[in-house]
Amino acid sequence: MYPSAEIYGGTGSVWDFGPLGVELKNNIKREWWRAMVQKRADVIGIDSSIITRREVLKASGHEQGFVDPLVECKICHERFRADHPDTIADHFTKIHKGKLPEGNITDARAFNLMFKTFMGPVADENSTAYLRPETAQGTFVNFKNLLESSRLKLPFGVAQIGKSFRNEITPGNFIYRTREFEQMEMEYFVRPADAEKYYKEWVKARFEWYTNLGIKPENLRLRPHEEQELAHYAAAATDVEYKFPFGWSELEGIANRQDFDLQTHEKHSGKELKYFDEPTKEKFWPYVIEPAAGVDRAMLAFLVDAYEEKHQASSTKSQTNSNNQISNEANTGKERGEGEVVLRLHPKLAPIKAAVFPLVKKDKLPEIAREIYNELTNYYMVQYDESGSVGRRYRRQDEIGTPWCITVDFDSLKDKTVTIRDRDTMQQERVKISSIKDFIDSHLEV
Ligand code: GAP
Repeated sequence: MYPSAEIYGGTGSVWDFGPLGVELKNNIKREWWRAMVQKRADVIGIDSSIITRREVLKASGHEQGFVDPLVECKICHERFRADHPDTIADHFTKIHKGKLPEGNITDARAFNLMFKTFMGPVADENSTAYLRPETAQGTFVNFKNLLESSRLKLPFGVAQIGKSFRNEITPGNFIYRTREFEQMEMEYFVRPADAEKYYKEWVKARFEWYTNLGIKPENLRLRPHEEQELAHYAAAATDVEYKFPFGWSELEGIANRQDFDLQTHEKHSGKELKYFDEPTKEKFWPYVIEPAAGVDRAMLAFLVDAYEEKHQASSTKSQTNSNNQISNEANTGKERGEGEVVLRLHPKLAPIKAAVFPLVKKDKLPEIAREIYNELTNYYMVQYDESGSVGRRYRRQDEIGTPWCITVDFDSLKDKTVTIRDRDTMQQERVKISSIKDFIDSHLEV
């Protein structure tokens, strides 16, 4: 990840994703879509617009209510959220030593987090629009279209992945809280009487999605919201929290939004947004259970959880000895040396699925390795690498979390096999060149 426009000093808490970052992000989104849409007969996907009419966000309550209380340090003009007193106290202790926040901080004022823009050539009140602060509203305003164009029967869900924007007062912690980010949200419409049951089901399902993709269960917990914490539309909410290096923090929220959104959009648009229940001939607004996750936060959690750095707990002398030994072993890739990094990402999330190496750059080995590489690029992101020792090439791939390294050696010329080295066990297996794809597929559980 790079700070956006880094050569100009960066754009406050906006990030660009490089070649590996974009792969990891795409894989996270693909796995979410697979679990939430592809494998669910009761969920459909949509893609609604980012630019949002003002009326939509007036009706949803965002224009009036999507605010944080903002205070400003009178000495250096740094801004804080008034509801984060620890951060403010920390600022005065570290930056203005000896001074207290009292008397040195402005009164709180409501600061709206939405990015405002203007549609068309005239920038005035009538042309005001917003960059959406959540994908959910795009689903609610399409409810009528979706009912009319598909034969959806309750309970059913509508899923979306897309960018959202919030002018956060205190962004930070790398990509944890940013001003431009991606959400993966699903609005699950249910009969009001079933809301509690589905709320519990989705809380459980969402927790398991992270552990199924390799997050260590001890680093994950569920935190139900206190009554006073609940958003204005929610009857209940639970956060899935991850133990980040900066403390337990929200990864995803699951909320019971009741019928707040459909009701308010019906009232403000004048278009009926009720569901007609054929068996009972009743018309009503369904309740909504919403699991709302962040792609970037999930990415940070997957990275932190997978990151491992090898360190020996030993004296300087034995350290030197072990380093010599390790540097020899590292050449063969059988042992990891001091300071070496391995990213134990779930293979489904790994940016690069396999790397192909010729053992040496001669005797037709590169040609065979290229052929294997070319074939595998039909199915996966693969890298070809012929530079440096095989041990060094293993290390490069371990650092980026590549689950399998495929080496073409002299035996390959005779028996058309290769070795496949597993990132986690470091075990090597001989596999027929014609079976490499089956090997990878079976491990990826495609
Ligand atoms: N539709 C409900 C909703 O938007 P939210 O808790 O405000 O709920 C859902 O956001 C998720 O979106 C969060 O759990 C988080 O993963 C992600 N998210 C929210 N604000 C973010 C920000 N400023 N930076 C990165 N991710 C953010």
